[in-house]
Amino acid sequence: MTRVVVTCGSGGVGKTTTAAALALAFASRGERVAVLTIDPARRLADALSLKNVGNTAQRVPTPEGRLDAMMLDAKQTFDELVSRHSPSPEARDRILRNHYYRFVSERLPGVHEYMAMERLLSLCASDEYDAIVLDTPPARHALDFLAAPDKMAGLMDEGVMRWLVLPASAGGWRMIEMGSEVLAGVLKRMLGQRTIEDIAEFFAGFQSLWGGFRERSLATRELLRAPSTQFVLVTTPAPGSRAEALAFLEVLQRDELPFAGFILNRCADPPPDRVAWPTTDPDLRAAIEATLARRQRLVDAQEAVIADLLAHAPRGARAWRLPDSDTAVSSLEGLARLGRLVGV
Ligand SMILES: Nc1ncnc2c1ncn2[C@@H]1O[C@H](COP(=O)(O)OP(=O)(O)OP(=O)(O)O)[C@@H](O)[C@H]1O
Ligand SMILES: [Mg+2]
Repeated sequence: MTRVVVTCGSGGVGKTTTAAALALAFASRGERVAVLTIDPARRLADALSLKNVGNTAQRVPTPEGRLDAMMLDAKQTFDELVSRHSPSPEARDRILRNHYYRFVSERLPGVHEYMAMERLLSLCASDEYDAIVLDTPPARHALDFLAAPDKMAGLMDEGVMRWLVLPASAGGWRMIEMGSEVLAGVLKRMLGQRTIEDIAEFFAGFQSLWGGFRERSLATRELLRAPSTQFVLVTTPAPGSRAEALAFLEVLQRDELPFAGFILNRCADPPPDRVAWPTTDPDLRAAIEATLARRQRLVDAQEAVIADLLAHAPRGARAWRLPDSDTAVSSLEGLARLGRLVGV
């Protein structure tokens, strides 16, 4: 079974960096690894020293194992799903050319997150990888992302049509549902004959695909909760990050997602135990001592945050401390070393 590790957390804490680091660490153990980012930013490509990362797998040159990096393109993923599951080439083209489909696949809220789940599922099903590392966008969106499969499954049950039409015109679909010709006439004037025909054609074309979407959204729901899946919560160990990390943890627990532990990124190193005093100058000595004491207080504050996070986490949750190190994040080997500090 393909292992899935999801890095999540607030904005800018190091999710993408640690996702790249974990992927490199797994590859260095000889595993076949994919790292998928659903954050439409260049950061993954930069971290892995690649020119570009797109929807298709891009091989990262690693001495051992195999590492493919990819960045989700929701529209392309949706198009591929339609192509794969349409009953005929004509049916496929009717959907892909449909104006309403273009709106749905490019701009409908939640589609990006949902396509990320579809992609994750198909990567797992391909059996090409031992491990998949999923890098999520900052927290606000990550919550949508966690809810996406449930939302999608629910929509299939309720009748997805009502939902899909809502962004275009709240209440619009109800009017059509009620079958009132007068109201339909008003709508036609509001939306235009073309739009209504597009919507009707879209739903007709999609009829045979809904079942598959529903099934896969349920499968993703299971996949996210499988014993082979681990969520890691990336955070800085600063007291100011505590509340946000706890809020995130609460969401993971509420949704019963398997939580492996915290990655405490950019930890300050403790001061050295012994100092080879370079000077006997009392003022300089006092200044150095004050600096060391400040560093110790910083480390103590960090450790208090970590203890507090662990106290709120389910039993067995771990805490991995990663140093703040520009040199570690600026090379593949440095990143792999960072990733090996995390025991997932
Ligand atoms: N341990 C570290 N030491 C030094 N720099 C780091 C470390 N971890 C991350 N960084 C730097 O911090 C910045 C933010 O990291 P990253 O992009 O991974 O965060 P993110 O959580 O993915 O951000 P976003 O929420 O915007 O997606 C980057 O410039 C990265 O190089
Ligand atoms: Mg990121």
